[in-house]
Amino acid sequence: MITRIVIGITGGIAAYKIPHLIRLLRKQGAAVKVVLTHHAQPLVGSETLRTLSDNPVYHDSETVYDMDHIRLAQWGELLLIAPATANTIAKVAHGIGDNLLTTLALAFKPSQVMIAPAMNTAMWENSATQENIAVLRRRGYQVLPVGSGELACGDDGAGRMLEPEEIVKAAGGGRILSGRRLLISSGPTEEPIDPVRVITNRSSGRMGAALAQAALAMGAEVIVVSGPATAPLPAGATVIPVRTAAEMEVALSERFSDVDVCIMAAAVSDYRPEKVASEKIRRSGETLSIRLVMNDDILAGLGTKKGASQLLVGFSLESDGDSARAREKMNRKKCDLMVFNRVDQALGTATTTVTVLHRNGTQFTMENTDKAEVARALLERIAELLGTAHE
Ligand code: CTP
Repeated sequence: MITRIVIGITGGIAAYKIPHLIRLLRKQGAAVKVVLTHHAQPLVGSETLRTLSDNPVYHDSETVYDMDHIRLAQWGELLLIAPATANTIAKVAHGIGDNLLTTLALAFKPSQVMIAPAMNTAMWENSATQENIAVLRRRGYQVLPVGSGELACGDDGAGRMLEPEEIVKAAGGGRILSGRRLLISSGPTEEPIDPVRVITNRSSGRMGAALAQAALAMGAEVIVVSGPATAPLPAGATVIPVRTAAEMEVALSERFSDVDVCIMAAAVSDYRPEKVASEKIRRSGETLSIRLVMNDDILAGLGTKKGASQLLVGFSLESDGDSARAREKMNRKKCDLMVFNRVDQALGTATTTVTVLHRNGTQFTMENTDKAEVARALLERIAELLGTAHE
């Protein structure tokens, strides 16, 4: 549980819900300090906030050069910006610090900042906002989803701030992987044919990146062994770039014994060319054969080395909708969890449909869900299995 929370309130109507949020957080034992932007001040009473938080309330002062923001960043374990307007989200995404709150946001590590957006549907759906949110997520900020329903402007649609109860759940459960080490493999592998050609696959590395981001936000130490993927990895993760399956195997095996969890989200090439031509293969003859030899199964190898307290998670990409093969792979490779998805619903897409199988026979399914959400749900399950979920 996080014990010291700085709440940053910006100028959204949902600011009126923050006194209730403070009460809920304090009931759970958290100490709270509040920072208000100029536009938030008319929307919620400072005296109410001061009384409920039992701490001074911080505004932009005339003496903007005092050390308040640094002191608050040292004090707080989490900066929760709620409600977060499109304007403040844009400023944080671009590193602008033009008031106490945005300056404070710069002084916190991205993984310590949680953002609860609130705005009208058109502003939420605007590509500027969506791109800013994508930037923040990529850097490891925890951006909460928005709710749908009636908005203060009278519109009906997406953009509502999550209810205080849900925010408390996210903030309280936020650091469930604190002190844990995660090793994640991500992206495709590349097997050379000659100096210019490779055998690879269509994995974008988005799932691995989403897992790394979510795990950082949950307080984990994250190492990503990544093939040549296109999806950017969050700052804050230790990245070990590899190309071939053999390089990936070495990088993972070297670190496996030091981690609590290993998630094999990489799309590993099952075969490699038997011989790599030292010069570019010339065009000649009507056909060309390349003999392939089998690569080691990295996951199965890790399964045989797994310690009693370690968790091993695999991904099983299948061409049809049958989870039986995924379950068989989970058992054969000695995985604790296996994420089963279908080829047409997984590779290179932002959303995916997955079924998460557990070796005890239980499972859950998420349909057409954003990979960030899938990553969070999977890591919550992992935290439960590690026994830290309710710490
Ligand atoms: N995997 C691995 N090493 C390989 C191949 C796969 O570690 N050489 C891992 C993948 O990262 C994934 C899991 O094994 O977590 C399942 O991968 P998948 O390609 O679905 O399974 P395969 O064992 O290759 O089975 P098949 O090709 O028969 O579907």
